Amino acid sequence: MSKQNSRDKLVGILQLAYSGERAAAYAYRGHWKSVADQEERRRIKQIEDEEWHHRQLVGEMLAGLNTGPKGSREIRAIIIGRVLGLGCHLSGWFAPMYGAGKLESQNIVEYQTAARYARDCGRQDLIDCLLTMAEVEWEHERYFRERVLQSRWIRWLKVWPEPPAKELIRASFD
Ligand SMILES: [Fe+2]
Ligand SMILES: [Fe+2]
Repeated sequence: MSKQNSRDKLVGILQLAYSGERAAAYAYRGHWKSVADQEERRRIKQIEDEEWHHRQLVGEMLAGLNTGPKGSREIRAIIIGRVLGLGCHLSGWFAPMYGAGKLESQNIVEYQTAARYARDCGRQDLIDCLLTMAEVEWEHERYFRERVLQSRWIRWLKVWPEPPAKELIRASFD
């Protein structure tokens, strides 16, 4: 893959991530407000804050690549995030926990992939931040996995595949 091609792929995946973080943050805002347990509220609120932080970091990366977010993705993110956030108040405890965990497992891979594109287009300076975000997504996935596994409903469902160990995010990259 040429450098230009990798740069285009990096921009594309960062635009997806930028809007995805917005959708996630709105969804988590609805989520933490919908749960009764104080510790769950605190942790999911913290996860919401971390998604906003990711969005800020990704926005800075896009600006550094002389580009910005994609309007259509942003509109989609607002709609999806708000619908999911509202849905948390209607769906009961289990579904948002399960859905969040499954999505978080994909977010880990998204930032790992972005880190590879960054390397391939000569933007080594972005790699550490991207892998750190992958590690934070790993912690998010772990949290929701633990919540789901302690629920009695999980007997009836399979949990999404478990991501590799957190240490491997960096080890597999080097
Ligand atoms: Fe995130
Ligand atoms: Fe996350």
